[in-house]
Amino acid sequence: MKNIAVIGAGTMGNGIAHTFAQFGYQVNLIDISEESLNNGMKTISGNLDRMVSKEKISEADKEATLNNITTFTDIPEGVKNAEVVVEAATENEELKLKIFKQLDETCSKETVLASNTSSISITKIASVVSNPERVIGMHFMNPVPIMKLVEIIRGYNTSDEITNKTMELSESLKKVPVEANDYPGFVANRILMPMINEAIESFYNGVAGVKEIDTVMKLGMAHPMGPLQLADFIGLDVCHSILEVMYNGFKNPKYAPCPLLTNMVTAGKLGVKSGEGFYDYSESKKAEKVSEQFS
Ligand SMILES: NC(=O)c1ccc[n+]([C@@H]2O[C@H](COP(=O)([O-])OP(=O)(O)OC[C@H]3O[C@@H](n4cnc5c(N)ncnc54)[C@H](O)[C@@H]3O)[C@@H](O)[C@H]2O)c1
Repeated sequence: MKNIAVIGAGTMGNGIAHTFAQFGYQVNLIDISEESLNNGMKTISGNLDRMVSKEKISEADKEATLNNITTFTDIPEGVKNAEVVVEAATENEELKLKIFKQLDETCSKETVLASNTSSISITKIASVVSNPERVIGMHFMNPVPIMKLVEIIRGYNTSDEITNKTMELSESLKKVPVEANDYPGFVANRILMPMINEAIESFYNGVAGVKEIDTVMKLGMAHPMGPLQLADFIGLDVCHSILEVMYNGFKNPKYAPCPLLTNMVTAGKLGVKSGEGFYDYSESKKAEKVSEQFS
């Protein structure tokens, strides 16, 4: 397989396009927003510059990687020759179903259709495709060029052949693929999100402050980043919506988002992307603890 289409040029899409292009694949990067495409290409170029300055790749590697990426604003045009499509558009079920219906109508019947969704059921996404055995979850981690894991999610109908192809494809990017079945949160978020939610709950209940909770997990459990800071990086809205998917999917109150998380999302405090979450990113970009209002 040589030709890859990536749908969505946001945080994940540009990282996925970068990674495939760096390993010699021809990548068509597609987004409905011209601005997102421009920003995505700027991010890729900036990340490649950093790799050059750290002497991980040469200037020629950088140029070759950028030359392997072509941008499109039209899905049918961008996926025409794709052997694999990796969808990394906004996390919204209705939107993803619409995109996969379009892929079913435009792509060759042999094309592997992968989604990078964090929480939406692969089986549900595959239900709008006429041959659902070729639909699979390819859950990359952020930042994609750096993180080794790809969680490979088998929908109810995903075939062994497509699973094996996707595992091999991930390995060709020097990633480590891990297979999981299609249940809410898959593996990564099923374990991570309750931990983040419990950290928020501990803060909400006044057990300890933000920095203290993160320090316990960093120095006591050897986590590279505390759970509250990690939540800010993932996006509090994203954490909230994944918890809702697990809460509704398992009908189990243990996954209910903490009321403080719900309040912060409603108030627009979404973490790094909005400039403030559990820490303040607005000025120095240095994580400063938000005022004591919640403690
Ligand atoms: N951010 C993370 O840490 C993370 C980690 C793993 C998986 N994911 C998943 O990756 C996917 C993308 O997340 P993100 O954080 O990159 O989002 P993002 O908001 O940064 O980017 C989404 C992009 O999709 C584009 N888009 C929207 N509708 C489109 C359409 N119809 N056609 C083409 N492009 C369209 C938007 O313009 C935007 O550029 C989601 O499914 C999310 O759950 C995110």
